[in-house]
Amino acid sequence: RHFNIALIPGDGIGPEVVAEGVNVLKAIEELDSGLTFSFTAFPWGCEYYLEHGRMMEEDGIDKLRKFDAIYLGAVGYPGVPDHISLRELLLRIRKTFDQYVNLRPISLLDPSLTPLKDKTEKDIDMLVIRENSEGEYAGAGDRLFKGNPEEVVLQTGVFSRKGTDRIIRYAYEEARRSNRTLTSISKGNALNYSMVFWDEVFEEIGKEYPDVTTYSYLVDAASLYFVTDPERFEVVVTSNLFGDIVTDIGAGITGGLGLATGANIHPEKKYPSMFEPVHGSAPDIAGKGMANPIAAIWSVSQMLDFFGEEKWGQAVLDTIKEMIGETEYLTPDLEGNAATSEVGDQFVKKLSKK
Ligand code: NAI
Ligand code: MG
Repeated sequence: RHFNIALIPGDGIGPEVVAEGVNVLKAIEELDSGLTFSFTAFPWGCEYYLEHGRMMEEDGIDKLRKFDAIYLGAVGYPGVPDHISLRELLLRIRKTFDQYVNLRPISLLDPSLTPLKDKTEKDIDMLVIRENSEGEYAGAGDRLFKGNPEEVVLQTGVFSRKGTDRIIRYAYEEARRSNRTLTSISKGNALNYSMVFWDEVFEEIGKEYPDVTTYSYLVDAASLYFVTDPERFEVVVTSNLFGDIVTDIGAGITGGLGLATGANIHPEKKYPSMFEPVHGSAPDIAGKGMANPIAAIWSVSQMLDFFGEEKWGQAVLDTIKEMIGETEYLTPDLEGNAATSEVGDQFVKKLSKK
């Protein structure tokens, strides 16, 4: 088994955390004689932009096309507007490679990590499946009569039949495969076109999955339940905007951005999928060796699952749990005082003992 991985470490703490994730993959390569990886790094990001006037090489997308996966740190840095850095690199990759599924596990790895009272690992263990290609983030809209008192700004949510169908079907398949309930989060009472349609599709496709127990919540109520009663959620499917928001609530109840991961999946495997921590480039702590590498390492676990190497994906996740339970090698965001590289080194040691 051999996998070609493109690395885009990016900006700020991106390169610091990606380095630790790569060390984990290299350790696995040592431990499993049948498994090899090759890595090709691309120096794209905001520094590249300041020098070349673009976020990636002109044929950057073509260069990425042949890889099995893309492993990205973070992009965005003061001095380059966020709508340029985000749209011209990250969103461009997601869109061109049709990575329409965003998989965000929200799991409490240790009770000490949640601000909620009396919760155990079992209480918070869900997979949020966020639509990643259209919806409210389609970029459609207009700005009319700019600067006039009559100014009107439109931001249109785009929900195609194909786009809505495929994400909801993916979620039903995942719920069936893992024998879990499926919850749809929408807002049909106020968004009378898009979310009424979403609810209809959710119900229609559900007829093909009579074995899957379903729930449907309005996004405001669901946000409340994330905090008061997260036990209700197992597999969750939702739109691009709602998914963005509820997964940050999810990060908040499970240990913060230093632990949150997200995979951008193109299930048909015609193009590469992309694995990245949810957090950004964290300019406030960049270069200080303080960044928590665990989110980026969890992304490696997701990548291994995607490659069909579930045994290793699980081993990485189990090691993360052990690390957190022991608290000795944690970064300052988790009230420890270890450096990024110390966490990474300790991680590799623990994994190698498995
Ligand atoms: P951020 O995620 O970079 O930081 C928010 C806060 O969380 C900061 O206080 C930071 O120190 C902390 N934090 C984040 N990751 C951490 C980690 N691994 N360990 C310890 N602490 C961590 O979000 P912010 O400040 O809103 O954005 C900074 C830049 O990153 C912006 O340019 C933004 O556009 C970009 N960004 C990029 C993303 C991506 O590449 N996927 C996602 C979010 C933001
Ligand atoms: Mg977000």
